[in-house]
Amino acid sequence: MINLKNKPSFILIILGASLLLAFAYKSDIIGIPSIPKSLSNLTVFNNDIVFNYNDTKLNCYTIKQENMDREKWTLSQFDEVEKGSKSGIDFQFKKDFNGTLIYGLYGDEPMKYPIAVYFKKHEKIEKGKASINIRKRLSGKYDLANWEQLKKGRLAYRVLDDKNNIIINKSISFTVDSIFTIIPDLVWGPFLSRQTERFITISFATNLKCKPTVILNNIQYDLKEGKNHEITLSNMYAGHTYDYIIKIGSIEHKAQLQAAPKPGSNAKFTFAFASDSRGGTLKGETNTKGHNAAILKKMAALAVHKNVKFWQFTGDMIDGYKIDRDEMELEYTNWLTSISPFMHSTVMNVGMGNHEILMKTFGEPKKYLSVDGFPYDEYSGESLFSKFFSNPQNGPQSEDGSKYDPDAQSIDFPSYKGNVYSYVYDNVAMIVMNSNYWYTPNHRVIPMIGGNPHGYVMDKQLEWMEKEVAKFEKDGNIQHIFVTIHTPAFPNGGHSNNDMWYNGNNEIRPWIAGKAVEKGIIERRDEMLETLVNKSTKFRVLLTGDEHNYSRLVVDNNTKIYPDNWDGPKINLSRPFVQIVDGAAGAPYYAQEDLPWTPSLKKFSSQYALVLFNIDGEKIEVEVINPNTLETIEKVDL
Ligand SMILES: [Fe+2]
Repeated sequence: MINLKNKPSFILIILGASLLLAFAYKSDIIGIPSIPKSLSNLTVFNNDIVFNYNDTKLNCYTIKQENMDREKWTLSQFDEVEKGSKSGIDFQFKKDFNGTLIYGLYGDEPMKYPIAVYFKKHEKIEKGKASINIRKRLSGKYDLANWEQLKKGRLAYRVLDDKNNIIINKSISFTVDSIFTIIPDLVWGPFLSRQTERFITISFATNLKCKPTVILNNIQYDLKEGKNHEITLSNMYAGHTYDYIIKIGSIEHKAQLQAAPKPGSNAKFTFAFASDSRGGTLKGETNTKGHNAAILKKMAALAVHKNVKFWQFTGDMIDGYKIDRDEMELEYTNWLTSISPFMHSTVMNVGMGNHEILMKTFGEPKKYLSVDGFPYDEYSGESLFSKFFSNPQNGPQSEDGSKYDPDAQSIDFPSYKGNVYSYVYDNVAMIVMNSNYWYTPNHRVIPMIGGNPHGYVMDKQLEWMEKEVAKFEKDGNIQHIFVTIHTPAFPNGGHSNNDMWYNGNNEIRPWIAGKAVEKGIIERRDEMLETLVNKSTKFRVLLTGDEHNYSRLVVDNNTKIYPDNWDGPKINLSRPFVQIVDGAAGAPYYAQEDLPWTPSLKKFSSQYALVLFNIDGEKIEVEVINPNTLETIEKVDL
């Protein structure tokens, strides 16, 4: 019974509770993120976000449901799972599974590219537990780390599931007295990025929280305590090479870094390009949970062997397309682990592809009724990408503020920071684009739910690209502008039904807040060409991927680039346009397809390929090598 004497306070409580509930629906309080106004037909229903799809309410497919539906592997299952014992190392993985543990030591010798070799025997993983008896197994003639004398060592290990799929490669360092003790050391890195004449960023991750130091030019830089580390070093001299040391406790990792040369110093140099290293369909190293490690490692070895000054990698590094951030973090970590031994002294810049999406999915997960995850600042593909890759931050903000922005006050789009950017090396400018921004994978559902189709460059990004091209056109030190984007303007094998073509269907375009944007995919392609070909004299090549092969295409004004029924305006190309596709870094292959511009195709290969650009002042030579066989696929002047 309600005490009538307390009626006013009761009403206040009810009022307060309803207000709180109303607020909770708008915010994250009860675990439901607010729905971006840029999307459509999403509502909150029964404490869940639902997609109102053709009069059916499709529930959000949750991580909890997914955990019950299929075998899941996540990064946190392998976090701090090693413990020293009297005889070696015990492993207690944070998942109950049976499998195999392969392992081996890092040799006690100076190695430019430190890598371990595996021991002949392996251990069983039972119910998530395993042990390595280092004293018994890896001593005497098997002690290549010399741990018995040095009282310390580093061990690499690999986890296989019960079907022998590779789940993770990891390394761990230890000290020894009466017992083995796990100590902090590198999980991945160091990686170099954001290179300019004066600055460079070093990033790496450690297995345990620690406070590493970086030493450069006898100056010691103390880093904050943590597991993910990043430092930007400044005050370097243009073109100078420096030795640097990463110190983690008593462990030292020595490498070199270089400040970019003064722009326009016109020294001869080489840079590398590739994309699409996501996993092949086979077991073994070709699918190291998310990527083709067998090919990626060979590519990295080839790139450093060729002394490239930087490596541009544009999208589809991993399988991705996940709803669980933790699962995708394992895939990124595996990718970074694979190339870590090679890339400590070579700058690497990466761009996003479609597989980098971290999704929110509705209904049956196999139907891919998905959008880019939100809240955008912590659960989008863009936000996760920026956690792992320290790219330049000089791109546009987001599509907020475009003429389609549904609310000038709120954030309705993910950020472009770190996934759209530009950089300069000597006489070369590189513009890195993202045609999988705010990506909705199933383009047929875009009119209903909103989002950006695969391959489309949205307004603010295009506007930014135009300004960048104009800036570099005016810059007397820049002779060559390269633009890289995951999706080809002209697909040639594997993606004729999408990229910037969609079998000639210009209806394909983003929908924002229930409205289609003005320009279709083919019109947008032409707007890009207008800037790159007709308004620029320095633009050289569009570097793309997505198609798992290598191709070089030279489109001129006589090339057929429209569908037969095209009644829109046609672009007049004032000079030839060159496109190179290299999506051949390990993903499953595609063969050549027949398209209107096929007569303009100069080279097509389904081999794995690393593209090297040998820059010598005005001259650009393209050298394409299969990293698996070292066969030269082609070597031509541009
Ligand atoms: Fe792709």
